[in-house]
Amino acid sequence: MNLDDSAYRRLVEGISDYAIFWLQPDGSIATWNAGAVAATGYAAEDVVGQPLAILFPRADPVECGPDALLATAIREGRSEQDGWLARRDGSRFWAQTLIDPVRDGDTLLGFGVVMRDRTERRKIDEELRRSQEQFRVLVQGVADYAIYMLDPQGHVSSWNSGAERIKGYAPDEVIGKHYSAFYTDEDVARGEPATNLEAAAREGRVEREGWRKRKDGSRFWAHVVIDRITVYEGRLIGFAKVTRDVTDRRAAALALEEAREALFQSQKLEAVGQLTGGVAHDFNNLLMAVQGNLDLMRDNAELPERMQRLVSNALTGVRRGVNLTQRMLAFARRQQLHLEPVNLMALISGMSDLLRTSLGPSIVIDVRFPLSLSAVMGDINQLELCVLNLCVNARDAMPEGGVIVLAAGQEDVADAHPSQLSPGRYVRLSIIDSGSGMDGDTLTRATEPFFTTKGVGKGTGLGLSMVHGIAQQSGGGLQIESEQGVGTTVTLFLPEASAAAAATLRDPSMAHASPTIAEPASQPKRSILVVDDDPLVLSTAVEMLAYAGYDTHGASSAREALQKLQSLGELEAVVTDHAMPGMTGSELAAEIATLRPGLRVVLASGYAELPGAAAGIAVQLQKPFGRDALLAAIRGSSGG
Ligand SMILES: Nc1ncnc2c1ncn2[C@@H]1O[C@H](COP(=O)(O)OP(=O)(O)OP(=O)(O)O)[C@@H](O)[C@H]1O
Ligand SMILES: [Mg+2]
Repeated sequence: MNLDDSAYRRLVEGISDYAIFWLQPDGSIATWNAGAVAATGYAAEDVVGQPLAILFPRADPVECGPDALLATAIREGRSEQDGWLARRDGSRFWAQTLIDPVRDGDTLLGFGVVMRDRTERRKIDEELRRSQEQFRVLVQGVADYAIYMLDPQGHVSSWNSGAERIKGYAPDEVIGKHYSAFYTDEDVARGEPATNLEAAAREGRVEREGWRKRKDGSRFWAHVVIDRITVYEGRLIGFAKVTRDVTDRRAAALALEEAREALFQSQKLEAVGQLTGGVAHDFNNLLMAVQGNLDLMRDNAELPERMQRLVSNALTGVRRGVNLTQRMLAFARRQQLHLEPVNLMALISGMSDLLRTSLGPSIVIDVRFPLSLSAVMGDINQLELCVLNLCVNARDAMPEGGVIVLAAGQEDVADAHPSQLSPGRYVRLSIIDSGSGMDGDTLTRATEPFFTTKGVGKGTGLGLSMVHGIAQQSGGGLQIESEQGVGTTVTLFLPEASAAAAATLRDPSMAHASPTIAEPASQPKRSILVVDDDPLVLSTAVEMLAYAGYDTHGASSAREALQKLQSLGELEAVVTDHAMPGMTGSELAAEIATLRPGLRVVLASGYAELPGAAAGIAVQLQKPFGRDALLAAIRGSSGG
């Protein structure tokens, strides 16, 4: 294509988007195109011959005025400037100006000027810049989140105040550093930083939780999101990383989980307790019937000797059954406890023979008691049972033999005690062995009923459950510490007896003295009314008493008993079950107290359901009872 000067001129003059014009060597305007008119509002005749300065706003302090621009163009062969220029009407526009000197050899012919109105564009740029700045300030100011960028290789390229606060690095310490510095050594060894970046690059985003490291080496539990940042056609330019310190939230979640687990455990134990207690209660009645009838058979002189032996064996079995149901009741905290002040030292001394024979010669008992120790509130017989069970456990843990330490001390319990005791003064009794110890699972489950590691037929798994139940029912607690291969310390906490109660302390060695029962045959025949809704128990008790020489009457409910009372003459006592439908034994006793004041009422019960000292009750009797206990209760010759 071959264009002459006039064609060029027409082209240039017609361009309306760009102001294109010539300046004379002295800087005055020589030509003016359509674009210049559009941008400035000046017509050609207004400006041609005028100095370039006409386009510059007069009031502005000029940083780089027209003369300087031209001087730069001459000196450097070109000058370029973005700045405000003035329109004819006085308004301004943001102009991008390019000035080229035109020479012929050494002679300056003039300047070519290309100018563009960039006001709109500048506005957009300005807004963009402002919004970016706002965003930067926002991100920078977020203190709860660490928000920063990584380059594609994982080096930190920006850092906000949250990052500084959470991770402890100032921006100049960390920018340029590889982000694996925030990971724990174990995670770095596993290659986690690289794996996470790869995953983010591949999937666009990864979210993780884990331990991260602060500058000072301390750890925090972090919630981390890594987002891939890409530009045109998916080119990866880096990653945005948002990290939150959720250590507190995690701790709270863990605590909640623990509390839930504890609640679940206690609900489970509660349910098992109810079941066990119910089963044991019914079983007690059965055993009572069996025991009562066997007792009667054994006492029958006409029974052949061989039969006597069989009956003896059966009685031994029954006694073991009774033992078992007692343990179950104790675990279910339905054992009837006779709480009284107990001197633990005397209790342990009184048990020395029992312990020696039960534990065998390979076990040495080492008693470490302080010189003075407060009395505790407890049930002597049950406490002995607890000590015996714990010592047997300790012996079982030391099959080769060894030393069992029995240690005691006082303890003031404040609010937060590991065994969840209520605040108060307690006496500690620890049974310490150096045996096998327990692993974590065994330790957490040890007090669960029926949990045993001793194999079928060897352990019932009720020992610790019973001790736990008795300790709690006595107002104390149980604490077990154990380390595998080192040994176990089981500590019973028992509430200290008040000084007044302690004054009534009785000698525990007397607790075993069995009451002597006068022979019934020498007594005149007297009447007794027995009340029980369980026909088996009723007939057994009636049989026992008849055998002992009493004129015995039975009633299967409290109502029936009240009816019979009207027709019966003089009575020595009423023996009644407590838990009966319609009217309980205690209610019956209260009625009797008004109907026949002074008539002795013996209240029998399988477990601690008794309402304490109720009106009209002379004595309470624990089921299953044998003949001797029953007679003792009727005659008032027993303390319990
Ligand atoms: N001193 C101890 N050393 C090591 N393990 C023990 C100790 N005491 C208890 N255990 C563990 O706790 C379990 C439960 O004990 P627990 O006394 O309730 O039942 P058991 O001893 O197995 O049965 P039982 O008491 O009827 O003979 C035991 O089987 C044993 O695993
Ligand atoms: Mg045991």
